[in-house]
Amino acid sequence: MKWQLKKPVVLVGMMGAGKTAVGTMLARILGVRFTDSDDEIVKAANMSIPEIFARDGEAFFRRKEAQVLARLLHERPGVLSTGGGAFLAEGNRQAIAAAGVSVWLRADLDLLWQRVRHKNTRPLLRTENPRETLRGLLEARAPVYALADLAVDSLPGVSVEDMAQRVIAA
Ligand code: S3P
Repeated sequence: MKWQLKKPVVLVGMMGAGKTAVGTMLARILGVRFTDSDDEIVKAANMSIPEIFARDGEAFFRRKEAQVLARLLHERPGVLSTGGGAFLAEGNRQAIAAAGVSVWLRADLDLLWQRVRHKNTRPLLRTENPRETLRGLLEARAPVYALADLAVDSLPGVSVEDMAQRVIAA
């Protein structure tokens, strides 16, 4: 079935929460377009995220992220997946609240770590003890993600399709 969304569905939450995988599936089920703010930044810069962080720094990345988000929020409503830090900036939260419905994909540290531990694509986790870094980020960010309109739990063993259905139900 093809849905006519009035507003974009904006997925927020930590790296490894499944925003891209669930968002892709959700958009397929709803018959709407899927966009991913990280992908758009990478396309525009023609560089990977670690390259952008290394060359231009995190502050530059965050400015690009805000610009991309503002643009994507005003395209035809679909499913929009955001980078894990996007919802942290108050300006981004306001833009998301004004234009869309935010959904926090909530997952605990063990699940997040299991999903990100073998990937080397997150510059913020290039630390001495990345699990501890992830734990600190989760602890600091969870109260902010909790400001999203809806929260859906990402649990071990739940398929991507089931997660997408849970978002629809929410
Ligand atoms: C970040 C998460 C990443 C990416 C960048 C910063 C963060 O996106 O935007 O590495 O601050 O949590 P994912 O959440 O898609 O991994």
